[in-house]
Amino acid sequence: MKRVFSGVQPSGELTLGNYLGALRNFVRLQHEAECFFCVVDLHAITVPQDPAQLNRRTFDLAKLYVASGLDPKIATIFVQSHVPAHSELSWLLSCFTYIGELSRMTQFKEKGRKGENVSSGLLMYPVLMAADILLYDTDAVPVGEDQKQHLELSRNIAERINHHFGPVFRVPEPLIPPKKAGARIMSLTDPTAKMAKSGEANSYIALLDPPEVIAKKIRAAVTDSGREVYYDEVNKPAISNLMVIYSLCSGEALETIAERYGSSGYGRFKSDLAEHVIQTLKPIQERYRELSEPGVIEAILAEGAAKAESVAKVTLDRFRQKIGLVPRFNLD
Ligand code: AMP
Ligand code: TRP
Repeated sequence: MKRVFSGVQPSGELTLGNYLGALRNFVRLQHEAECFFCVVDLHAITVPQDPAQLNRRTFDLAKLYVASGLDPKIATIFVQSHVPAHSELSWLLSCFTYIGELSRMTQFKEKGRKGENVSSGLLMYPVLMAADILLYDTDAVPVGEDQKQHLELSRNIAERINHHFGPVFRVPEPLIPPKKAGARIMSLTDPTAKMAKSGEANSYIALLDPPEVIAKKIRAAVTDSGREVYYDEVNKPAISNLMVIYSLCSGEALETIAERYGSSGYGRFKSDLAEHVIQTLKPIQERYRELSEPGVIEAILAEGAAKAESVAKVTLDRFRQKIGLVPRFNLD
């Protein structure tokens, strides 16, 4: 059976972009492969976080994984910092990764530009991500378009090490949906930027937004000139983005949607779109509330960490041995 690994940072409210670009695919994959889904808290702290908020968001994200349809009996759901092998492998891999290739990463350049005090953790971010993936002998990594470059680096690190020491790591393949299938959902207020939890409030729909807030944000979403509804990424970026969201939430083809609304203006299109988004998120929001019973998510995460650790340990030991580290001695 193929192995799948992916992670999401607990760095803000999950957006519809995270759901359509990543989580929705996780749910489908759990029936086709042995899956590990991680709350990557150690990645979140590469930029400043409020401790109480990080704590709460870690629980929230784990609950949203399950509420989105991940079944903890089938998929392994865990918190990255609960399995120390991630940090340990990250150190070992960093010794086989060049500063040059890390400083060329687009995300590092973008996030690093914002502040003067850029942590070295931010530079190391893709190495930790490579550790996450390689620890589980991962075959495929479902992510949105924005993670493509990081994945390429994970592959390069794995190949470099395999070349030097003989086979150690499985080289993972990216699993990125086509653009029209949600790889890159754009902001509602700026169709040239991706929808992100770090954006301004009206630019994204959060998975836990109540129906009236969803309707309001979609009503306020920017549109393009004209009044025709058709797919054209270049000339109609805003409407094309809304159409992709419509298509993914309703299950209807883009052509069907274009035919239905044609030149009838954006009003009815937007109100129907809001309804489809609300109906898509409704079951997730209901399950999320059920998971808030004390102890439920803790039990899922305890089991997930134990399962993940047992797999990660084997890979880590294999690599430690290959590079000549002496195994720890036991006196009994
Ligand atoms: P992050 O929130 O950056 O941890 O991203 C978690 C997952 O969601 C990654 O696989 C991202 O590629 C994906 N993702 C984030 N934003 C979007 C978006 N606007 N459209 C599609 N996928 C996204
Ligand atoms: N960097 C990813 C993001 O921001 C999150 C992530 C961390 C990840 N480790 C991973 C994704 C391993 C896939 C596999 O979206």
